[in-house]
Amino acid sequence: MMIITIDGPAAAGKGTLAAALAKHYKLVYFDTGMLYRAVGLGMVLDGLDPENEVAAEQKAKELTFEKMMALSTHQDFRSDIGGRAASKVSALPKVRAALLKMQQDFSKNPVFPDGTPANGAVYDGRDTGTVVCPHADIKFFVTASAEVRAQRRYKEFLAKGIQTTYEKVLADMAERDKRDSERATAPLKPASDAIFLDTSEMDAEAEVFTAIKEIERRLAGI
Ligand code: DC
Repeated sequence: MMIITIDGPAAAGKGTLAAALAKHYKLVYFDTGMLYRAVGLGMVLDGLDPENEVAAEQKAKELTFEKMMALSTHQDFRSDIGGRAASKVSALPKVRAALLKMQQDFSKNPVFPDGTPANGAVYDGRDTGTVVCPHADIKFFVTASAEVRAQRRYKEFLAKGIQTTYEKVLADMAERDKRDSERATAPLKPASDAIFLDTSEMDAEAEVFTAIKEIERRLAGI
Protein backbone atom coordinates (compact mmCIF):
# COMPACT_ATOMS: atom_id res chain seq x y z
CA MET A 1 0.00 0.00 0.00
CA MET A 2 1.35 3.42 -0.92
CA ILE A 3 -0.29 6.70 0.08
CA ILE A 4 0.97 9.95 -1.47
CA THR A 5 -0.43 13.32 -0.41
CA ILE A 6 -0.20 16.57 -2.37
CA ASP A 7 -1.24 19.79 -0.66
CA GLY A 8 -0.89 23.41 -1.68
CA PRO A 9 -2.75 26.54 -2.74
CA ALA A 10 -5.11 26.80 -5.74
CA ALA A 11 -3.69 26.15 -9.23
CA ALA A 12 -0.21 25.29 -7.95
CA GLY A 13 -0.12 22.14 -10.09
CA LYS A 14 -1.48 19.60 -7.59
CA GLY A 15 -4.07 18.03 -9.89
CA THR A 16 -1.65 17.57 -12.79
CA LEU A 17 0.92 15.98 -10.52
CA ALA A 18 -1.60 13.80 -8.70
CA ALA A 19 -3.03 12.41 -11.95
CA ALA A 20 0.45 11.72 -13.34
CA LEU A 21 1.70 10.02 -10.17
CA ALA A 22 -1.46 7.92 -9.92
CA LYS A 23 -0.88 6.72 -13.50
CA HIS A 24 2.84 6.10 -12.98
CA TYR A 25 2.46 4.10 -9.74
CA LYS A 26 -0.96 2.57 -10.66
CA LEU A 27 -2.70 4.22 -7.72
CA VAL A 28 -6.15 5.78 -7.48
CA TYR A 29 -6.36 9.58 -7.58
CA PHE A 30 -8.51 11.17 -4.84
CA ASP A 31 -9.23 14.85 -5.53
CA THR A 32 -10.49 15.84 -2.05
CA GLY A 33 -11.39 19.37 -3.22
CA MET A 34 -14.29 17.77 -5.12
CA LEU A 35 -15.97 16.95 -1.80
CA TYR A 36 -15.91 20.59 -0.70
CA ARG A 37 -16.91 21.80 -4.18
CA ALA A 38 -19.89 19.41 -4.16
CA VAL A 39 -21.05 20.64 -0.74
CA GLY A 40 -20.44 24.31 -1.65
CA LEU A 41 -22.16 24.16 -5.03
CA GLY A 42 -25.02 22.14 -3.51
CA MET A 43 -25.59 25.01 -1.06
CA VAL A 44 -25.52 27.64 -3.84
CA LEU A 45 -27.93 25.67 -6.05
CA ASP A 46 -30.36 25.31 -3.14
CA GLY A 47 -30.20 29.07 -2.53
CA LEU A 48 -28.47 28.55 0.83
CA ASP A 49 -25.65 30.67 2.29
CA PRO A 50 -22.42 28.59 2.13
CA GLU A 51 -21.55 29.95 5.58
CA ASN A 52 -24.68 28.40 7.13
CA GLU A 53 -22.94 25.71 9.20
CA VAL A 54 -26.04 23.69 10.15
CA ALA A 55 -27.24 23.38 6.55
CA ALA A 56 -23.74 22.80 5.17
CA GLU A 57 -23.06 20.04 7.70
CA GLN A 58 -26.30 18.36 6.64
CA LYS A 59 -25.22 18.59 2.96
CA ALA A 60 -21.83 17.09 3.83
CA LYS A 61 -23.44 14.20 5.73
CA GLU A 62 -25.78 13.46 2.82
CA LEU A 63 -23.01 13.58 0.20
CA THR A 64 -22.47 10.38 -1.78
CA PHE A 65 -19.98 9.57 -4.54
CA GLU A 66 -22.86 9.53 -7.06
CA LYS A 67 -24.14 12.95 -5.97
CA MET A 68 -20.62 14.38 -6.18
CA MET A 69 -20.08 12.99 -9.68
CA ALA A 70 -23.43 14.38 -10.84
CA LEU A 71 -22.60 17.85 -9.48
CA SER A 72 -19.12 17.72 -11.03
CA THR A 73 -20.61 18.14 -14.52
CA HIS A 74 -22.27 21.45 -13.53
CA GLN A 75 -20.72 24.52 -15.23
CA ASP A 76 -19.99 26.16 -11.86
CA PHE A 77 -18.34 23.16 -10.23
CA ARG A 78 -14.88 24.37 -11.31
CA SER A 79 -15.71 28.08 -11.78
CA ASP A 80 -14.96 30.90 -9.32
CA ILE A 81 -18.50 30.48 -7.95
CA GLY A 82 -17.88 26.81 -7.09
CA GLY A 83 -14.39 27.59 -5.79
CA ARG A 84 -15.56 30.36 -3.46
CA ALA A 85 -18.47 28.30 -2.12
CA ALA A 86 -16.13 25.32 -1.56
CA SER A 87 -13.64 27.50 0.31
CA LYS A 88 -16.43 28.92 2.52
CA VAL A 89 -17.95 25.56 3.48
CA SER A 90 -14.47 24.11 4.01
CA ALA A 91 -13.81 26.68 6.77
CA LEU A 92 -16.70 25.24 8.82
CA PRO A 93 -15.43 22.68 11.39
CA LYS A 94 -18.62 20.58 11.26
CA VAL A 95 -18.35 20.23 7.48
CA ARG A 96 -14.70 19.15 7.76
CA ALA A 97 -15.60 16.63 10.48
CA ALA A 98 -18.40 15.18 8.35
CA LEU A 99 -16.04 14.65 5.40
CA LEU A 100 -12.95 13.48 7.30
CA LYS A 101 -13.88 9.88 8.14
CA MET A 102 -14.69 8.83 4.58
CA GLN A 103 -11.41 10.35 3.34
CA GLN A 104 -9.52 8.42 6.02
CA ASP A 105 -11.44 5.18 5.44
CA PHE A 106 -10.61 5.36 1.75
CA SER A 107 -6.88 5.28 2.53
CA LYS A 108 -7.32 1.92 4.28
CA ASN A 109 -9.25 0.38 1.42
CA PRO A 110 -8.65 2.35 -1.79
CA VAL A 111 -10.63 1.34 -4.86
CA PHE A 112 -10.74 2.63 -8.44
CA PRO A 113 -14.05 4.21 -9.58
CA ASP A 114 -15.10 0.85 -11.10
CA GLY A 115 -14.72 -0.83 -7.70
CA THR A 116 -11.48 -2.73 -8.30
CA PRO A 117 -9.03 -2.55 -5.37
CA ALA A 118 -6.00 -0.28 -5.71
CA ASN A 119 -2.57 -0.62 -4.14
CA GLY A 120 -2.81 2.86 -2.75
CA ALA A 121 -3.93 6.39 -3.47
CA VAL A 122 -2.72 9.86 -4.35
CA TYR A 123 -4.58 12.50 -2.34
CA ASP A 124 -4.79 16.11 -3.54
CA GLY A 125 -6.08 18.88 -1.24
CA ARG A 126 -5.12 21.30 1.52
CA ASP A 127 -4.85 19.11 4.65
CA THR A 128 -4.27 15.62 3.24
CA GLY A 129 -0.69 15.31 4.55
CA THR A 130 -1.38 17.04 7.86
CA VAL A 131 -4.83 15.80 8.95
CA VAL A 132 -6.34 13.24 6.56
CA CYS A 133 -3.30 10.97 6.09
CA PRO A 134 -0.62 12.05 8.59
CA HIS A 135 1.09 8.66 8.09
CA ALA A 136 1.31 8.92 4.29
CA ASP A 137 4.42 7.38 2.71
CA ILE A 138 5.23 10.47 0.65
CA LYS A 139 3.98 14.03 1.12
CA PHE A 140 4.34 16.97 -1.25
CA PHE A 141 3.65 20.65 -0.70
CA VAL A 142 3.28 22.20 -4.14
CA THR A 143 3.44 25.97 -4.58
CA ALA A 144 3.96 28.60 -7.28
CA SER A 145 3.86 32.40 -7.27
CA ALA A 146 0.37 33.94 -7.08
CA GLU A 147 0.85 35.50 -10.55
CA VAL A 148 1.80 32.19 -12.19
CA ARG A 149 -1.09 30.39 -10.51
CA ALA A 150 -3.60 33.06 -11.52
CA GLN A 151 -2.30 32.99 -15.11
CA ARG A 152 -2.77 29.19 -15.25
CA ARG A 153 -6.28 29.31 -13.81
CA TYR A 154 -7.20 32.21 -16.14
CA LYS A 155 -6.13 30.13 -19.17
CA GLU A 156 -8.12 27.11 -17.90
CA PHE A 157 -11.22 29.29 -17.51
CA LEU A 158 -10.82 30.74 -21.02
CA ALA A 159 -10.40 27.25 -22.48
CA LYS A 160 -13.68 26.23 -20.82
CA GLY A 161 -15.43 29.33 -22.16
CA ILE A 162 -15.78 30.92 -18.70
CA GLN A 163 -15.80 34.73 -19.08
CA THR A 164 -13.43 36.47 -16.66
CA THR A 165 -10.32 38.65 -16.45
CA TYR A 166 -6.82 37.88 -15.18
CA GLU A 167 -7.23 40.54 -12.47
CA LYS A 168 -10.45 38.97 -11.22
CA VAL A 169 -8.90 35.49 -11.12
CA LEU A 170 -5.88 36.84 -9.20
CA ALA A 171 -8.12 38.64 -6.66
CA ASP A 172 -10.45 35.63 -6.20
CA MET A 173 -7.50 33.33 -5.71
CA ALA A 174 -5.88 35.61 -3.13
CA GLU A 175 -9.17 35.73 -1.21
CA ARG A 176 -9.54 31.93 -1.32
CA ASP A 177 -5.91 31.22 -0.33
CA LYS A 178 -6.22 33.64 2.61
CA ARG A 179 -9.42 31.94 3.83
CA ASP A 180 -7.94 28.43 3.35
CA SER A 181 -4.71 29.34 5.19
CA GLU A 182 -6.21 31.33 8.04
CA ARG A 183 -9.13 29.10 9.04
CA ALA A 184 -8.89 27.56 12.51
CA THR A 185 -9.55 23.92 11.53
CA ALA A 186 -7.06 22.07 9.28
CA PRO A 187 -5.67 25.18 7.55
CA LEU A 188 -3.57 24.96 4.42
CA LYS A 189 -0.02 24.40 5.64
CA PRO A 190 2.86 22.09 4.79
CA ALA A 191 3.33 18.89 6.78
CA SER A 192 6.62 18.93 8.69
CA ASP A 193 7.88 16.02 6.55
CA ALA A 194 6.62 17.35 3.19
CA ILE A 195 8.76 17.65 0.07
CA PHE A 196 8.48 21.22 -1.27
CA LEU A 197 7.97 21.73 -4.98
CA ASP A 198 7.83 25.25 -6.41
CA THR A 199 6.39 24.93 -9.92
CA SER A 200 6.59 28.64 -10.86
CA GLU A 201 9.28 27.94 -13.45
CA MET A 202 8.30 24.34 -14.30
CA ASP A 203 6.00 22.96 -16.93
CA ALA A 204 3.94 19.85 -16.13
CA GLU A 205 6.58 17.49 -17.50
CA ALA A 206 9.36 18.97 -15.35
CA GLU A 207 7.09 18.94 -12.29
CA VAL A 208 6.25 15.24 -12.67
CA PHE A 209 9.89 14.33 -13.44
CA THR A 210 11.14 16.17 -10.33
CA ALA A 211 8.46 14.61 -8.13
CA ILE A 212 9.17 11.04 -9.30
CA LYS A 213 12.91 11.58 -8.74
CA GLU A 214 12.18 12.70 -5.17
CA ILE A 215 9.85 9.74 -4.53
CA GLU A 216 12.46 7.28 -5.77
CA ARG A 217 15.08 8.90 -3.52
CA ARG A 218 12.78 8.62 -0.50
CA LEU A 219 11.77 5.04 -1.26
CA ALA A 220 15.45 4.12 -1.61
CA GLY A 221 16.01 5.71 1.82
CA ILE A 222 18.39 8.38 0.50
O1 DC B 1 -8.50 21.97 -4.65
P1 DC B 1 -9.77 22.79 -4.98
O2 DC B 1 -9.49 24.14 -5.57
O3 DC B 1 -10.74 22.01 -5.81
O4 DC B 1 -10.46 23.02 -3.53
C1 DC B 1 -11.62 23.81 -3.38
C2 DC B 1 -11.70 24.32 -1.95
O5 DC B 1 -11.92 23.24 -1.06
C3 DC B 1 -10.45 25.01 -1.44
O6 DC B 1 -10.51 26.42 -1.63
C4 DC B 1 -10.39 24.66 0.02
C5 DC B 1 -11.19 23.41 0.14
N1 DC B 1 -10.40 22.21 0.41
C6 DC B 1 -10.04 21.97 1.72
O7 DC B 1 -10.32 22.77 2.60
N2 DC B 1 -9.37 20.83 2.05
C7 DC B 1 -9.03 19.94 1.12
N3 DC B 1 -8.38 18.83 1.46
C8 DC B 1 -9.34 20.19 -0.25
C9 DC B 1 -10.03 21.36 -0.57
